[in-house]
Amino acid sequence: MMRSLSSADNFVKEAMKKRGDNYYPKFHIAAQYGWINDPNGLIYINGKYHFFFQHYPYKPIWGPMHWGHVVSDDMVHWEHMPIALYPDQEYDRDGCYSGSAVNNNGILTLFYTGHRFFEKTGEDSRICQVQCMATSIDGIHFTKHGPVLYPPEGIVDFRDPKVWRAREKWWMVVGAKVNDLGQVRLYQSDNLKEWQFRCILHQAKDSVDGYMWECPDFFSVNNKDVLITSPQGMPAQEYDYRNLHQSGYCIGQWEKNGTFSIETSFREIDHGHDFYAPQTFEAADGRRIMVGWMEMWDAPLPNQSEGWSGALTLPREISCNEIGKLYCKPIVELELLRTDYKNFELIALNNEVYSLDETYQELKLSIDLTASSCRCFGLNIESAGRISVDSALKRLIFDRHSSDYELQSCRSISLKGMLRIDLHIFIDASSIEIFVNEGEYSLTSKIYPISDQKKLTLFAEKGTAIFKNIKEWKLDSIF
Ligand code: FRU
Repeated sequence: MMRSLSSADNFVKEAMKKRGDNYYPKFHIAAQYGWINDPNGLIYINGKYHFFFQHYPYKPIWGPMHWGHVVSDDMVHWEHMPIALYPDQEYDRDGCYSGSAVNNNGILTLFYTGHRFFEKTGEDSRICQVQCMATSIDGIHFTKHGPVLYPPEGIVDFRDPKVWRAREKWWMVVGAKVNDLGQVRLYQSDNLKEWQFRCILHQAKDSVDGYMWECPDFFSVNNKDVLITSPQGMPAQEYDYRNLHQSGYCIGQWEKNGTFSIETSFREIDHGHDFYAPQTFEAADGRRIMVGWMEMWDAPLPNQSEGWSGALTLPREISCNEIGKLYCKPIVELELLRTDYKNFELIALNNEVYSLDETYQELKLSIDLTASSCRCFGLNIESAGRISVDSALKRLIFDRHSSDYELQSCRSISLKGMLRIDLHIFIDASSIEIFVNEGEYSLTSKIYPISDQKKLTLFAEKGTAIFKNIKEWKLDSIF
C-alpha cells in the first residue's frame, strides 16, 4: 500500500541513524527517534493490530504531541507506520493528546484530546481541551473531523477519551479535574459525533485520591466491570503508591442507568517504578489486553542522551478473579519471540551465587518458600538491580541500582500466605517486567545496566535457597 511520508517521518528516518542504542529495547515498542508516552488507540481491526502512542518526533522530550503508529499481524512482530496525527489544526495546535480507537463498520475511528495553551504560563486555567474525532479507510492516513465534545462550563482539564460500544450505543469516558479532585465523566452517543453527558462514573472524595484522573478506561472482564484511572497526586501509603503518579482500578457493577456501583476501592495495577496510563482493548479472540507506558512523569530518563525516550510495556492479558482482583500476565503470543532455550530442574544454593547466561532475556523460575531457609535470596542483575525474597519482611523486593540516586529505590509486594512463588521475568536493554504467580502481581521498572556489567546471578545470602524449574530463553527483536 502507498505510504506518504511527511517531513516529520523523514526527519525521524534520518535522526534514527544517529540514535544511541545501549538502552534501546529489543522487544518493546519505542520511538525510532524522539519521545513517546501513553499508548493510544489500541485496536484489532480489519485483520491487523494497531497501536498508537503519544509521540514527539523531533527530540527525546515531551513536546506538541503527535500520534505515532505501529501495526502487527500477531501483536508481537511490528512495523512502524507514518505518524498518524499531527497537531496541525487550531483546536489541537498544541497537541493531539491521548485517546482511543473504535471499529465503526470497518472504519478505524480515533478519538483524542485536542489541546491548546492560550498563554504559555503553565497555569491550568490557560488551557483548552476538546475531544476530537479522526477516521481512516486504509488504516494509515487519517482525516480529522474536528471536535465532537467540548468541556463543561468551569472544567479545563478534560481529556483522554476512551470510547467503546455496548448496549447498542457508543460510550465515552473522559478524565477530568474538578475543584482539584479527579473525576471520570461518562457520555453516550448514537452516531459518534453528538455526545450527551450521562453521569459522573466515579470521582475522588478528597485530595488523597488525586487531583486529576488521567486516561480512564472502562470495560468488563470475567463478568466484572472494571474502571481504570491514572490519578495524579496520590500520596504514598506504606508500601503502596510509591510512584509520583499511579495507575489503578476499581471493580464494580455498571448499572442499567449508567452509574457504576463500586465494590472494591482503588488498587494499583502494577507495583514497579514505571507503569502509567495503561489502556485496554479486545484482541481478535476476545481476550482483554492491556498496555502501559513504561516510564513515569518527572523521573530521570538516562536514555534521553541516546536520542529517544519512552517505551510501551509488553501486552498483558488481563482477567479478574471472583473476589475482584485483576490479574495481568504476558500474552502467550510472546512465545513466538523465543529462540535459544536452556533449563535447569533445580539449583540449590547455600550462601553462594550461581551465574546465569546474561544474553537470555526471558526467565521463568519457581521458588519454594518453605524449603528455602535463608534471610535473603533471589536474582541479581549486576549494575541494574536485584529481585529478592526477604524472608523476615515476607516481601518480594525489586531494588533498582543506579549511580543516579533519584533512580535508586525499592518497590515490593507482600508474600504473606504464599508457600511458593512462580516468577516470569522479561529483561530488555533498559527494562524489567516481573510477573508473579501467573499475573497475580506485576512489577515493571526501567533499569539502566552498564552494558559490559550486567551479569545475571542467582544468590542466597546466609542460608539455603532452592530455585526450581528454571527456564531461560533468548528473544528475537519485534521489528
Ligand atoms: C498521561 C497524559 C494524558 C495526556 C497525555 C499528554 O500521561 O498526561 O493525560 O493526554 O499524557 O501527552
